[in-house]
Amino acid sequence: MKKLIFALLAAFTVPALADRLPLPADTPASYRDECGSCHLAYPPALLSAGEWKRLLAGLSDHFGSDAAVDATQQREIAAFLTRHAGNPGAAGNPPRITRTARFVRKHDEIPARFWRDPRVRSPANCEACHTRAGEGRFSEHEIGIAELRE
Ligand code: HEC
Ligand code: HEC
Repeated sequence: MKKLIFALLAAFTVPALADRLPLPADTPASYRDECGSCHLAYPPALLSAGEWKRLLAGLSDHFGSDAAVDATQQREIAAFLTRHAGNPGAAGNPPRITRTARFVRKHDEIPARFWRDPRVRSPANCEACHTRAGEGRFSEHEIGIAELRE
């Protein structure tokens, strides 16, 4: 009986992985500060280890920006991202989260005009729609653009 209760409890306390992507507890300050200064400090699980390595190899020419960090920070960030990386699937060099099959699948019902909306500007601008993205919350019920809310 004890075992059964435990199993039931475990089943109901497992977080809904799909819309909860909080930064892991061991996220280094360098990642939050350096990789969260121009855009969201993206959840590491959204690219694979190889894709993160490819991205980190080109930080001085990062989507038209210079995002270079010093060698110590780069090692720390690389180790962290590799540790928590997800499955491969991103196109482009540097690779984009917004070109992964997972991202496309999760967003395929959004009418094209919203990606160019002045409130959004870019699919990479997660927080424009996911108002609580900074806390790792991506629920369809926490969308800042009224027309996209259900
Ligand atoms: C100086 C500003 C700046 C810094 C610092 C910066 N980035 Fe970026 N990053 C950008 C810009 C600009 C883009 C392209 C955004 C767009 O297309 O709207 C981008 C895009 C990305 C993307 C792709 C988003 C997508 O479209 O899927 C990833 C992943 C990324 N950055 C990771 C990082 C990481 C990791 C770091 C820290 C090592 C970092 N960035 C630091 C400016 C920056
Ligand atoms: C134009 C607004 C918009 C932008 C920008 C946007 N999203 Fe979304 N996203 C949505 C909407 C709306 C949904 C809900 C779609 C649905 O359930 O039909 C969603 C769903 C999701 C989900 C799935 C949640 C679940 O319940 O399974 C994840 C994860 C997610 N987005 C991550 C991101 C990330 C990461 C970024 C930035 C790289 C981003 N989104 C950028 C609007 C946006």
